[in-house]
Order: sequence, then C-alpha cells, then structure tokens
Amino acid sequence: MVFSCNFLASLGFLYLRRVEVGMDISKAYAELKEFSAEQLKEVDDITSKHRGRPGALIPVLEKVQEVLGYLPAGVLMKVAKGLNIPIANVYGVVTFYSFFTMVPKGRHNIRVCFGTACYVKRAQRVFDKLSDFLGIDRGGCTEDRRFSLETVRCLGVCGLAPVIVIDEDTHGQVTSPRRGKAKLAK
Ligand code: FES
Repeated sequence: MVFSCNFLASLGFLYLRRVEVGMDISKAYAELKEFSAEQLKEVDDITSKHRGRPGALIPVLEKVQEVLGYLPAGVLMKVAKGLNIPIANVYGVVTFYSFFTMVPKGRHNIRVCFGTACYVKRAQRVFDKLSDFLGIDRGGCTEDRRFSLETVRCLGVCGLAPVIVIDEDTHGQVTSPRRGKAKLAK
C-alpha cells in the first residue's frame, strides 16, 4: 500500500512536473474557466479552512468534487496551493481512489457490465453500440455533459445478462440496441 501510494505519487510528480514546467500549465489553468467565480471561491474556502490540518486532503478533495463535479489538473493545482502541500501528493491520491475523477461526468451515468456472464452474452457488442451512438469511449462524457459511459465488473445479477445500469436503474437482457437508443434519446 505504501509502495503503491509512493509509486503513484512519483508518477503524479512526473506528470505534474511536466504541467509545471511545460506548456500544459496554461491548459491546466484554462480548465478553471469553466467554473463560476462562486464555485472557485467555495474551493478556496474549503482549502483555507483545512490548511495545516493533518489528513485533510481526502475530505477536501471529496468536498471540492462535490462542488465542481470533477477534479481537472487545474483544480488539483489550486487544492495543492490552498493546502500548501506538494501537487504530487494531490495527484497521487486522486489517481489512487476510484471515486475521484479528473474527467467530467455526464448528468446520466451508463455502466455496462463486463463481468463474465455478461461478457459471454455479448456485452462488448452492447458497449460498442452505445459507444458509437453516443460518440464516446470508455470513461468518456458527451460534449453536452448529458451521458458518461463506463464499464464495471459483475453487478451481481448475472441471471439478467447482459446488464447495463443507467443512473440507479438496472436493465437486464439488453439485446436490442434500437430500444436502448430510443430510451437514451428521450
Ligand atoms: S456478470 Fe454482469 S451481472 Fe454478473
């Protein structure tokens, strides 16, 4: 565990070192433009309230993700600055825990089960159809931020394979992409 965190932190450092010294820095800060002044102020308030407190990073990131919806590189830099900690630490934590995301999420999250039972029932085909229809790949989000597309491991309802989950609703035996498209178009 310690090794993994250190390893990820090192990778994060390498990546963010590039951000710090390379041309990506302007891109990282440009990402902040999509957030309102109120949202960014809220981020500042959260970080300043926790500055200097041991173990504050994860709760701070959770709150910031709640406010902004996701944690792009520019926000990680802002959090690191606000907490006065190395940016590599922030990046290491965000990439280690799957509940943090550096890409935006759509208002509706579609998860296609890639567990064994679903896979043998052609979950890949279902995924490919959805991917084509939405124009996004795994982990992606449509430009209008309406849909995100993910794959997951067994959802525990293998008898319904192939299974997809749209937000909180489980759909089993998804064999008709045409019906699925109609539902998504609504
Ligand atoms: S493999 Fe998909 S629900 Fe179990």
